[in-house]
Amino acid sequence: MTNKQFDITVFGATGLTGKQIVRHVFELSADRPDFYSGNFRWAIAGRSAEKLQKIIDEMTSRYPNATIEKPTTLVANVTHREQVDEMTNQTKVVINAVGPFRFMGEYVVRSCIENHCDYVDVTGEPEFVERMQRTYQDKAAANQVTIVHSCGFDSVPTDMGVVFTKNLYTQHGWVPESIEMFLKLHVGPDGMRGGYATFESAVHGFGSAELLREIRKASTLKKLPYPQGEKLQFHKGAHKDEEFGYHVPFVFADPSIVRLSQQIFLTGLAQPEKQKPDVALPPPIQFAAYLLLPSLWAVILYTIYGYLFGFLAGSPWGRNLLLRYPELFSAGLFSKQHPTETQLEQCSFEIILRSKGYDHALNPHYNVPPNRNIKVVVRGPESGYVATPRIVLQCAMAILNNKSQGYVPNGVLTPATAFWETDLIDRLRYVGITYDISK
Ligand SMILES: NC(=O)c1ccc[n+]([C@@H]2O[C@H](COP(=O)([O-])OP(=O)(O)OC[C@H]3O[C@@H](n4cnc5c(N)ncnc54)[C@H](OP(=O)(O)O)[C@@H]3O)[C@@H](O)[C@H]2O)c1
Repeated sequence: MTNKQFDITVFGATGLTGKQIVRHVFELSADRPDFYSGNFRWAIAGRSAEKLQKIIDEMTSRYPNATIEKPTTLVANVTHREQVDEMTNQTKVVINAVGPFRFMGEYVVRSCIENHCDYVDVTGEPEFVERMQRTYQDKAAANQVTIVHSCGFDSVPTDMGVVFTKNLYTQHGWVPESIEMFLKLHVGPDGMRGGYATFESAVHGFGSAELLREIRKASTLKKLPYPQGEKLQFHKGAHKDEEFGYHVPFVFADPSIVRLSQQIFLTGLAQPEKQKPDVALPPPIQFAAYLLLPSLWAVILYTIYGYLFGFLAGSPWGRNLLLRYPELFSAGLFSKQHPTETQLEQCSFEIILRSKGYDHALNPHYNVPPNRNIKVVVRGPESGYVATPRIVLQCAMAILNNKSQGYVPNGVLTPATAFWETDLIDRLRYVGITYDISK
């Protein structure tokens, strides 16, 4: 790694998310001049040199106080192997924002592993993540490369939140048993909007549920153990929680990523070179995830759109129809038009992790109710294009700063399995993604 000239390369810098990542790098340098060390070098990569240069010009005029050096531009198209190899050969950590990942991610993962380049991405596509883990784990470990998927809003707040919550139990000598996750999205008067590539990823994700099942069948990772304590009830349909109100099952990446994290931990693939004496390997728990909705009317609308989306995503003609009319089939939530600055400023997220556990070791022969509970709340700004750039940059910086000290494992990993021994949660707090214990 020593001959690599760039600490970080942002790949896909011309896209909606990639550009926001570049902007955040500049913004952080303007607001917190001490954040980057003096010899920090970086690059931005994409298909068009002209578009990349335009972004640099825009950011340097928007952030005149930024102390960071201007990035170098690298032209790379995922279908041109030599260009991708040139990028990964010169870089310590690639941040990949080129999606949908199921179509374009593997080229970059392969190149990173072959060229000893660590990697983080913003995918929210479990089928891609689990396929990469199954295919490249051994090679990545052998080449001492760290590949970390889902380092955006999908799924760092939750996956690291689960580790954070488990640690609160183990620090007391308690046993965590279950965690329920509730996502609350706060939307301002101008509403919220997601990008077209995210909609495209979701359409193909729902369309390949069968493929994901096949990948899981072929997985050599250890299965999660049968719970020893009280079994967690999972509400498969809409439900009203006494504490939080209406919710529906969370259909995005977080449950798959949390499950994969737990399997990777159990299989022993998340062991870094060094182990801190005060940090225990997170034990398995039962997990359920829900999306909170503000009213019964919202539940009805969500259910109608959900059924229609699920039905259409199951066939090629249905997927074509969805992809043609994203606004129509998402009640205006996804569009080829980018979200406005005001929309981004007005939105925020809150993830509540409600957990239960025991203050004693469990005897599988006695079914005793849990006697300890802890609630953790993770908060942050707009999820897709404000929080995600902040999170993924901190993940890349966590690799840069912790790996040489022996605290980041090699292999194809999830956020929790890559960062459980690092300072990532402190880094996230530094950029406004907070983890707190709640009453
Ligand atoms: N985890 C999260 O919470 C989260 C949040 C936001 C986004 N995402 C994911 O991030 C991905 C990107 O989303 P987006 O909205 O930013 O999409 P986008 O605006 O369409 O950007 C896609 C980027 O990929 C580049 N690209 C396309 N084909 C390429 C190729 N053959 N070689 C090299 N680069 C290529 C595009 O370059 P050109 O400019 O040259 O077309 C562009 O830079 C999606 O998969 C989305 O789901 C995840």
